[in-house]
Amino acid sequence: MTNREDVTLTSAGYYVSQEAPIVTDNPIATPQASPPDILRCAYMELVVTDLAASREFYVDVLGLYVTEEDENTLYLRSTEEFIHHNLVLRKGEVAAVAAFSYRVRSPEELDKAVAFYTELGCDVRRSPDGFVKGVGDSVRVVDPLGFPYEFFFQSDHVERMSWRYDLHIPGELVRLDHFNQVTPDVPRAVKYMQDLGFRVTEDIQDEEGTVYAAWMRRKPSVHDTAMTGGDGPRMHHVCFATHEKHNILAICDKLGALRRSDAIERGPGRHGVSNAFYLYLRDPDGHRVEVYTQDYYTGDPDNPVVTWDVHDNQRRDWWGNPVVPSWYTDASLVLDLDGNPQPVHARTDDSEMAVTIGADGFSYTRADENEGKLGNQL
Ligand SMILES: [Fe+2]
Repeated sequence: MTNREDVTLTSAGYYVSQEAPIVTDNPIATPQASPPDILRCAYMELVVTDLAASREFYVDVLGLYVTEEDENTLYLRSTEEFIHHNLVLRKGEVAAVAAFSYRVRSPEELDKAVAFYTELGCDVRRSPDGFVKGVGDSVRVVDPLGFPYEFFFQSDHVERMSWRYDLHIPGELVRLDHFNQVTPDVPRAVKYMQDLGFRVTEDIQDEEGTVYAAWMRRKPSVHDTAMTGGDGPRMHHVCFATHEKHNILAICDKLGALRRSDAIERGPGRHGVSNAFYLYLRDPDGHRVEVYTQDYYTGDPDNPVVTWDVHDNQRRDWWGNPVVPSWYTDASLVLDLDGNPQPVHARTDDSEMAVTIGADGFSYTRADENEGKLGNQL
């Protein structure tokens, strides 16, 4: 996406540049209508097949707070949240994502969302009373990439639990941090997301210009969502933040003590991308949940874009630990606005797994030694 001539190699081994127009041979047209002013990722609606099992995982193990629940639905929030929920778990037949939901700056922004997506020819629906409890006037669309996106402003306010130390657990999840989406053509997706008002903070590329993933933000952190190259549209993960690294270690200890260490898919570790400390879990339906802490501020207009070489063995894990293959291949289905699973389209560009691990891939720890370590990450 960024020409290699325009990037500067840092002493830590990644590259920096200023955000540049995206080069894509299959662009989604830029609408004339202005995009809605998005504040942040706000909640995800997940369909789960066994609500009791999911309640046990998200409430009893991970400690999310129950704002409201009924026979078929659970509304959960993190410690610092003051809007109604960050996660809706709804019982259904097929485990999938029903909505990636963003909060906008004012009620008027919803008119902009309708105009923006109508011009793109998308399925656009508006519900003045919201699609779920606790949230008012909302717009849902199937976006040009096939993802169910939602926009809302009005939400019931609930108590921020930050001062309720009597209720906190060692692995306290304090904020919703980001989504991660799987899409076949990352530059095409990023160009559309820039039109929607997102800024790129980091990406992974190779010398030929193939883009494997990109991170984009509205709030001034590394991301509100990321686009990961792969068969899609699918949901790679939803991520909650903790305050400190030790909170993540406490979650691992707790899962071990519960004899549920098989819920840990990858980590704990330190990311190269985002510099955050991380852990990936799989919920009872296989939906992937990341726990994450201590990325960095990105709010200045000239914030440098960080580019990682796909062959840099420290991009996904700063300590060089292997990325398990399931992390590259598994992801959750997403639904259209009628609740039907969206068809999944294959990625045609090289896959990150194929070029970095296994017999055909290579990765390096020190670029200047210029010799790939075959199969280093398996
Ligand atoms: Fe993530």
